[in-house]
Amino acid sequence: MDNRPIGVFDSGLGGLTVLKEIINLLPGESAVYFGDSGRAPYGTKSKETVVKYTFQNMRFLLNHDIKMVVIACNTMSAYSFRQVVKSFDIPIVEVIQPGAVTGARETKNKKLGIIGTPATISSGAYDMAVNGIDSSIEIFSKACPLFVPLAEEGREWWENDITLRIAEEYLIPLKQSGVDTLVLGCTHYPLLQNTISRVMDKGVKLVSSALETAKVVKNTVTDNNMQRNVQLKPVYRYYTSDSVEKFEPLCSAILGTEITSAERVDIEKY
Ligand code: DGL
Repeated sequence: MDNRPIGVFDSGLGGLTVLKEIINLLPGESAVYFGDSGRAPYGTKSKETVVKYTFQNMRFLLNHDIKMVVIACNTMSAYSFRQVVKSFDIPIVEVIQPGAVTGARETKNKKLGIIGTPATISSGAYDMAVNGIDSSIEIFSKACPLFVPLAEEGREWWENDITLRIAEEYLIPLKQSGVDTLVLGCTHYPLLQNTISRVMDKGVKLVSSALETAKVVKNTVTDNNMQRNVQLKPVYRYYTSDSVEKFEPLCSAILGTEITSAERVDIEKY
């Protein structure tokens, strides 16, 4: 038994799509969430910068006496996972392998679309992960750099005409390539899911790594005997490096429950 919380972090709001699935699958567990909205987007930054930010985020969460950590960001998973795993003695879950597993399982015509940040796409992490599962799958990938700023900007941007126009620009080539499944290889993209599915053909299945990642988290908790005492109520804490006033309503919208206790953190101190 281990009553300590699970740490979850992302460059901003996107990791909340992963946290939501973790809460669904592990309702008894406590969690500490950090979203680095003050420095997002990460996916257009250099590898050195993303690695530095990942280590700062890790150090911040480790100050909260967590029992494991979830890197709920594809960009940090792609650029930093190997270094982070070597540097910290704590179970760490990332999001790319779970996303690849889901995509490889769902494609029937073996034409798989992957969208992500420029960093994630150029790292080739998804190509390696998918081909490691099934080398006969043909991958069509596309970086969508404007999607994260649009998702962070607020709900009115998730489904408006400008976002739709941008989505068409990014996604029509993928649509034309005949993919039957599209992996949302960025944890922010489920927030734009309605817009993305308006552009893709109806039959195209959109998959995110959130649910599969939550299953990995559950297995990690069970395999390491780290379940929280079921008699205790779960406690959730939320931190952002940007305005709490902006974070709380968006966090509430994503999690479907009102969050009023978020705190601002100066992440550069870590
Ligand atoms: N949610 C992050 C991801 O999954 C977004 C990275 C960014 O801030 O650009 O890649």
